[in-house]
Amino acid sequence: MLDLCLSNCKIVPENITRYIGVDGGKIVSIKRTPISAGKNIDISGNIILPGLIDAHVHMRDPGFTYKEDFRTGTEAAAVGGFTTVLDMPNTKPPTNTVRTFKEKINIAKDKCIVDFGLHAGADDPTEIKELAKLKPASFKIFMDLYDDDYLMDLFCEISKIPEINGSKPIVSLHAEDKEIVERCTKKFKENLNPIIYANARPPYAEEVAVSKAIIMANKYDLNVHICHTSTGKSLNMINSAKKNGINITSEITPHHLFLDPSYLDMFGSFAKTNPPLRNMSDKVNLIDLCKADIIGTDHAPHTIEEKKDNIWNAPPGIPGLETALSLIMTGVNRGKISFGDVRRLLCENPAKIFNLKNKGFIKYGMDADFVVVDMKKRDVIKPENFHSKAHYSPFEGKKVRGLPIMTILRGEVVMYDGTVFEANGKYVYN
Ligand code: NCD
Ligand code: ZN
Repeated sequence: MLDLCLSNCKIVPENITRYIGVDGGKIVSIKRTPISAGKNIDISGNIILPGLIDAHVHMRDPGFTYKEDFRTGTEAAAVGGFTTVLDMPNTKPPTNTVRTFKEKINIAKDKCIVDFGLHAGADDPTEIKELAKLKPASFKIFMDLYDDDYLMDLFCEISKIPEINGSKPIVSLHAEDKEIVERCTKKFKENLNPIIYANARPPYAEEVAVSKAIIMANKYDLNVHICHTSTGKSLNMINSAKKNGINITSEITPHHLFLDPSYLDMFGSFAKTNPPLRNMSDKVNLIDLCKADIIGTDHAPHTIEEKKDNIWNAPPGIPGLETALSLIMTGVNRGKISFGDVRRLLCENPAKIFNLKNKGFIKYGMDADFVVVDMKKRDVIKPENFHSKAHYSPFEGKKVRGLPIMTILRGEVVMYDGTVFEANGKYVYN
């Protein structure tokens, strides 16, 4: 007899009802008729998706655990329907050496309640080759921190890494041009009106960085992933590069999709993020979703005290794990987003791009990771209820319809109706 049967699961976009058998944490059967198992969970005709994968989170652990840690961050993930998170390297110490990478795996193993992988920092060229052997999800480079010569050196260094298990390393890029950002910031820095922040890091700062990324991806034959692509133009540039045979992928965040600079007016520094929120005419839009490869939240928590500071001093970043799916499902309910895009952008493509072999699909042999969504359930976004330590959000007060009600990690329920249960998150690249 199997461990578990999930009954009456509505699988979308196919719109079929199935019984899913789980054994040893894996999907072992998908049938039209009931499956006998030690335990049965009736999904009652609700939507089931593969557990969501967030390829862009900042868990702040170690070093900034007053903002977030692997425990609270993965609780937020479970509440939001995410069963795998890929953590960014800008911690203290940064995850840019073999030693700090191994240390972070150990910290995360003890605290995570969903599965995790780690991006590595690429800013120590002497470590890159050895770091690659530990299978980082990617090498992350913040283009806004380095000049072109240094960026070229880093790309060149990464291009020398031999393939690991048949795949070339991926370079994840924060694509904003350092020189443009510095020049524009200087110009506006006297102005304390939060809305000015969008001008300090203008769309062309991103688009110039994306074009440099395309040139470097071509020159060094690398796989490049553009994090938080915020303008429609950047997305088009990435897609034409793809057509020309360049290995490049794009990520969109819910805040760049749903918000604009008027939220800087309303929420001040709490809506400050890099790249900044974009004007209606520049921003990525719902109709662009078909051109994007993944949705990542860029869950970037800070403390309320830090975010209360003025627009220049407050740190950039918005927590996103607990709001992403309900915002997106609200779009589905309004007929603006398709279930197919949700599954592609939040499950299948993140698994394919970041080599998560057992994740992202409801198929025989895959990890039994699921999120169950009640498409009728309504809520109002209330940051005070977040499991994340960051109790703020520019989405505060937004009405949403379509909520994650259950998250299952390798056959175990880790979240039900907002309550989180104990679970052992595993490192996904073993
Ligand atoms: C990120 C953070 O807080 O770590 N913030 C953000 O606004 N996206 C860092 C970054 O990506 O610049
Ligand atoms: Zn980020």
